Amino acid sequence: MEKREYMPIAVFVSGRGTNLQAIIDAINKGKLKTEIKLVLSNTSKAYALERARKYNIPTKVIPSKKFKNPLEWGEKLIEVVKESGVDLVVLAGFMKILPPNFISAFPNKIINIHPSILPAFKGLSAQEQAFNYGVKYTGCTVHIVTEKLDEGPIIAQAVVPVLPNDNANTLANRILKYEHKIYPQVIQWFAEK
Ligand code: GAR
Repeated sequence: MEKREYMPIAVFVSGRGTNLQAIIDAINKGKLKTEIKLVLSNTSKAYALERARKYNIPTKVIPSKKFKNPLEWGEKLIEVVKESGVDLVVLAGFMKILPPNFISAFPNKIINIHPSILPAFKGLSAQEQAFNYGVKYTGCTVHIVTEKLDEGPIIAQAVVPVLPNDNANTLANRILKYEHKIYPQVIQWFAEK
């Protein structure tokens, strides 16, 4: 069989991992020319780890609370990511703020997906924030990670309408469908340089 060189990536997760699944599915459909070398979680409870194991993707759990301070946690993360030899770190529902030493070790090599049209509704529960604010459109954003939370150059956004019968949950689910489309697409752009 033809041997192809695929861009190696690491995916950082904290939860259920539907974005991880969308990335895996896009790879398996041949739409995304990357190889997931590592799925890293800050908690062993993340269901995303099970998804990774199902596809024999190496996993690691590195909780921040095991370290004296965030910078020591950052050093460990730097070591693990360097060891894995990846070209891109993909945050997919990673719910812990990364320490500055980690972010500066991989400039322009860490991307994140956030469930709002940034710069609106930064931080936690962005879908609920948008719903409660009463906006008629919201969506999701893929951006490069910098030291400022939910900032950094925007790569792609999808706009999603808020419908009359929505609640925060139905809205979040609609946004998620678009997350699953734009995140693999952006990773493929990185693979294509
Ligand atoms: C996604 O909606 C993602 O955009 C959001 O967490 C969810 C993870 O879902 N991320 C953030 O809010 C980061 N600030 P998943 O585990 O099913 O991919």
